[in-house]
Amino acid sequence: MTAALLDVTGLSKRFGGLQAISDLALRVGEGEIVALIGPNGAGKTTAFGLISGFLTPDAGAIHFRGRSITGLPPHRVCALGLARTFQIMRPFPRLSVLRNVMIGALGRHADPRAAAARAGAVLEELGLAAKAAEPAGSLTLSERKRLELAKALATEPVLLLLDEVMSGLTDRETERLVGEVRAINARGVAILLIEHVMRAVMSLAQRVVVLDYGERIAEGRPEEVANDPRVIEAYLGDERL
Ligand SMILES: Nc1ncnc2c1ncn2[C@@H]1O[C@H](COP(=O)(O)OP(=O)(O)O)[C@@H](O)[C@H]1O
Ligand SMILES: [Mg+2]
Repeated sequence: MTAALLDVTGLSKRFGGLQAISDLALRVGEGEIVALIGPNGAGKTTAFGLISGFLTPDAGAIHFRGRSITGLPPHRVCALGLARTFQIMRPFPRLSVLRNVMIGALGRHADPRAAAARAGAVLEELGLAAKAAEPAGSLTLSERKRLELAKALATEPVLLLLDEVMSGLTDRETERLVGEVRAINARGVAILLIEHVMRAVMSLAQRVVVLDYGERIAEGRPEEVANDPRVIEAYLGDERL
């Protein structure tokens, strides 16, 4: 495996009586694409919250680029080059698409013109340039998914955490977003993605980690994991899919 960019060990998080994450170990190498899959409620989004600093772990260590980020607040984690998207998207609906993306870019570029240029370049890359002046609230679901990705990309991450960015999209929209994610990765950005769309997982991920009830139940190459009886029982055979 390549040098670990992200190295999570012994990660645990409890909400009241619910153990949402139990002793989780997870690594993402430089430039790698890793998928995190599992049934609804498995703890995937919680894991993202812990890694990105939005939630504080009860136990465990998170190292990013060789330094501990355990317990750091989100803006510090982001400044180090780790950005996430949110499963529940909340753009500022009345602000323009460009302004929404600029908010991410301002963390890197104090000069608003430089931030606007960066935001414009990201919108171009994601095929949203024509929508730059539109209010974010006017976008379609597919465009809002790409806006969410653009906001994260504008912070210039080396590791991008994507939380179900393909869900609810048509096959064509999914295919397009898969291509965009692949292009972002080709620029050297490592990606950890939570995804239920197995076609996207199989075509993008080099490695898949499967969570169930907060525990890692399997890990391996996509085709290995897809044929693992425990994974089929816990997730792939699940009619909730
Ligand atoms: N802030 C919270 N407070 C209490 N329970 C939570 C909170 N966030 C998540 N949970 C619970 O933790 C479990 C894991 O949730 P989540 O990480 O969102 O799962 P996933 O993303 O895999 O669907 C669920 O049972 C969920 O209801
Ligand atoms: Mg989730």
